[in-house]
Amino acid sequence: MDTLAEINLKGFVEEVIDPTIDLFDEIEKLKKEKNAVILAHYYQEPDIQDIADYIGDSLGLSQQAAKTDADIIVFAGVHFMAETAKILSPNKKVLLPDLKAGCSLADSCPPHLFRRFKEAYPDHLVITYVNCTAELKALSDIVCTSSNAVAIVESLPKDQKIIFAPDKNLGAYVAKKTGRDLVLWNGACMVHEIFSREKITKLKERYPNAKLIAHPECEEVILKMADYIGSTTGLLTYATKSPEKEFIVATEAGIIHQMQKANPGKVFIPAPPNNSCACNDCPHMKRNTLEKLYLCIKNEMPEIIVPQHIIERAVKPIERMLSISAKLGL
Ligand code: 13P
Ligand code: SF4
Repeated sequence: MDTLAEINLKGFVEEVIDPTIDLFDEIEKLKKEKNAVILAHYYQEPDIQDIADYIGDSLGLSQQAAKTDADIIVFAGVHFMAETAKILSPNKKVLLPDLKAGCSLADSCPPHLFRRFKEAYPDHLVITYVNCTAELKALSDIVCTSSNAVAIVESLPKDQKIIFAPDKNLGAYVAKKTGRDLVLWNGACMVHEIFSREKITKLKERYPNAKLIAHPECEEVILKMADYIGSTTGLLTYATKSPEKEFIVATEAGIIHQMQKANPGKVFIPAPPNNSCACNDCPHMKRNTLEKLYLCIKNEMPEIIVPQHIIERAVKPIERMLSISAKLGL
């Protein structure tokens, strides 16, 4: 390990990289040398997706993190995902290329406020969406992801009272699908709340055959218009299996890389945001770059550290999710 390496205040190792090296080759070499595995979320930039050993949605990434025999997990995603990997594999070194790759949804539910909220509903079970901090998971009974949230709620007795946090949009979607009355925390994702119903309607006029596919973190007005709703893996599978040729994609635009690779003849149009910025690019996910990934694996930092007492409490609701998912074949 390069003992001179330090994490700067911006959250990553800053070092001048020799411009003559091929980053893809170097990362491959380092991976073998260190018995490291790169797990990447679909919202990462295309170069990172292309060098990853596994690309997936939050459920798939958690399942991989739980079963890998690598010594080092390099998590190309955001902080809560790397924390989940550390909780599931506490004896492995878990690295995140940029420690400041956070999540607006996780930030929308501070654990000290949630603890008080939960106290008001003592007979409720707490289901938390995986997009939350390790501290929040430690306050939960079951964790879920966008691909198993409906199934997890349905696996519980009908009269079980439930708090669902932190995403009010996913929570409302799950409540509607299951017919259950869920107590929702008022959190949301900045990327999925930005899509414009008016602009999507106009886009549908230009592409009358296009199917609108949407992530359940989107607001209800968008979900109501959607032809298919699912996790990132669900959206990719639907677009690949569908005989249709055009899709308007209402989620973070990074997923389009895999959609296009799997379906070279199909057209994928990112759903437009309600302003002129590129707000359907998650600024947290996009903090990771190939350069930061290279420096991270080379220097074995920044490393994710989760206090032991949090690991001990947070692992239970995550394992409960994994075991329900395995029973249901998800
Ligand atoms: P999934 O990939 O599990 O659908 O989650 C989307 C997301 O917002 C991750 O931050
Ligand atoms: Fe968080 Fe939204 Fe970015 Fe996912 S897309 S990491 S939920 S801010």
